[in-house]
Amino acid sequence: MNVKAGFQSARQQVRFIREAWRIQRRHRMQTLETVMELKRKYEAPLTGHVRVWDLLARMAAVMDPSDTSLYGVNQQTHVLQVLEAMERDGVGEHDMLVAALVHDIGKLLLLEREEPENVTCMNAPIGEYSRGAGLDNCVLQWNHDEFAYSRLNGNVPDHIAWLIRYHSIDVDRCEPLMDERDREYATRYLRPFQKYDQGSKSAFRLPTKTLTDYRELIETLFPKPILY
Ligand SMILES: [Fe+2]
Ligand SMILES: [Fe+2]
Repeated sequence: MNVKAGFQSARQQVRFIREAWRIQRRHRMQTLETVMELKRKYEAPLTGHVRVWDLLARMAAVMDPSDTSLYGVNQQTHVLQVLEAMERDGVGEHDMLVAALVHDIGKLLLLEREEPENVTCMNAPIGEYSRGAGLDNCVLQWNHDEFAYSRLNGNVPDHIAWLIRYHSIDVDRCEPLMDERDREYATRYLRPFQKYDQGSKSAFRLPTKTLTDYRELIETLFPKPILY
């Protein structure tokens, strides 16, 4: 790369980071009303029954503008990165594979022109809650987690639905709010999952496999279309 192109790319990188920060700031400004409004907005199905395979194929068109670990890398590539990192470590349980495949399908809302601050970023609780209240009894900032949960709940085991719903929380920060079930799921599923979800992100290490390599697995894990 010549010097001029290198300079330009550095400038683009700075611009991307600044925009990501703006999105993160707007996400933190979500109020209880914003969350209720978004919940209502996405209560009804968007498109009817859809195959999970088709949703994952669409992820190739989705880019998270708030993610400064991925930059412009698309969300299908992110999913493949998570799967490869798990494979490298010999993680093969269906639970973890299911979570890796579908945890971010809620980001497809970016294709529906939803504002990025309502789709991406990490989630924190809004308001004060007593110790051990249980995450389901707290209101958290709204993003792709809650949307994906609303579509996948009932299609995956209860603990995986929980994992999808809370995969964007800071576990240490939310620990005081957790009840016994939350704590068990956080230790067994969320902490190990976040290691791969967050830890495998790279704008430079592209996965060697394609989504097609996982087609059989996807069709086995999700044989029926889901109401999306
Ligand atoms: Fe996510
Ligand atoms: Fe992810």
